[in-house]
Amino acid sequence: MDCLERIALRGETEHASIGLTDLRKVKRFEERLEKGLEMQRLARYTIGRAPGGLPRAQKRFNPTWRYLQSAFLMKGRRVVITGGAGFIGSNLAWELCAENEVAVVDDLSTGNLHNIKGLVDGGKVAFSRQSVTDADGLKAIFKGADFVLHQAAIPSVARSVRDPVATNEAGIRGTLSVLSAARETGVKKVVFASSSSVYGDTPTLPKHEGMIPRPMSPYAVTKLAGEHYCRLFTEIYGLKTVSLRYFNVYGPRQDPSSEYAAVIPRFISCALNGEPMPIYGDGMQTRDFTFVRDVVRANALAAESGAIVVYNIGSGRRVSVMELAQKVAEAVGVEPKVVHLPPRAGDVRDSLADITRARDGFSYSPTHSLEEGLRITVEWLKSGR
Ligand SMILES: NC(=O)c1ccc[n+]([C@@H]2O[C@H](COP(=O)([O-])OP(=O)(O)OC[C@H]3O[C@@H](n4cnc5c(N)ncnc54)[C@H](O)[C@@H]3O)[C@@H](O)[C@H]2O)c1
Repeated sequence: MDCLERIALRGETEHASIGLTDLRKVKRFEERLEKGLEMQRLARYTIGRAPGGLPRAQKRFNPTWRYLQSAFLMKGRRVVITGGAGFIGSNLAWELCAENEVAVVDDLSTGNLHNIKGLVDGGKVAFSRQSVTDADGLKAIFKGADFVLHQAAIPSVARSVRDPVATNEAGIRGTLSVLSAARETGVKKVVFASSSSVYGDTPTLPKHEGMIPRPMSPYAVTKLAGEHYCRLFTEIYGLKTVSLRYFNVYGPRQDPSSEYAAVIPRFISCALNGEPMPIYGDGMQTRDFTFVRDVVRANALAAESGAIVVYNIGSGRRVSVMELAQKVAEAVGVEPKVVHLPPRAGDVRDSLADITRARDGFSYSPTHSLEEGLRITVEWLKSGR
């Protein structure tokens, strides 16, 4: 975590402001930040919004954006996170609770209360154990909320192939009841966690939002249906919604132990335990891996902006699964060992996000390279938190 993120999380960004229009000041600020100086002084700063708004500030000061970006996360809002005990939802809760009132709804079917225990025990997050399929139960929680960040789902292609009914229940009925409850309680905007899986196995790369989706698994069908419901609720009822198509998210708090664990935590766990990393197929399939902090920023930026409809959220870079195994081994500091298994039904061959629309729409830009993200994730898994 960089200095400013830490400062923002501690809620210390007050008093003076760095004018984003003063490039020299920002440059000096960044140099001193890199050298580890200025912590005391920086703690007094608020990064004010530049005249012309966020997009202009980002365009003009791109080199420093990484440091300044977290200061633009939402503030003073009432936010409900569905699926907030899961991997992405708990990262949202940890980052947003510093400056906002946060409530989490989760049935703990794939998530773990441990992910947000510190926040719940410390009174920073209100937790309700319930299913998103219970629209009446949601209404009581959504009342007075500005934003609902809807992350709840059973997020596994393989599991959806085995049990499409359960995936459908949480994914489609759950999303419909979230939207209905949000509409009835006057929520300002719903941000829906969609998925790159809606594109299916199209050969065109990078994948852009104008392409015709071709879901290849029950999971992907639920995400596409969720996007359509979001759009319909905007068009018919005027509820603001935006769907973010996440591309292979990874980072701290992602469970390496589940049967349906994602590739990065699984690889790291194998490498740490001296076991071979399992690769389905030849390993030449490619993925666009997105660090979870970028997904948190995307949610905050999309909620606060006027963006509606569908946006890709990825890193804009792809690596093969074989290459990933190599990078994970480097991050852990071991020789790469892999074992090849048969390819899995429903898996797509290649994935790469075109992130132009999110960049133009709400100034989204990835801030962590894969190498950096892996290093942070390895440290987190090693720490056994
Ligand atoms: N992780 C990724 O790479 C990725 C990629 C694309 C999209 N997504 C989407 O992002 C969202 C979060 O995924 P994640 O990786 O954090 O998964 P996760 O399993 O860690 O989190 C999902 C959370 O939703 C909860 N949940 C499931 N069904 C529920 C229900 N009926 N009612 C209430 N809570 C319920 C689970 O208990 C869990 O805490 C999901 O919608 C997923 O489809 C994730």
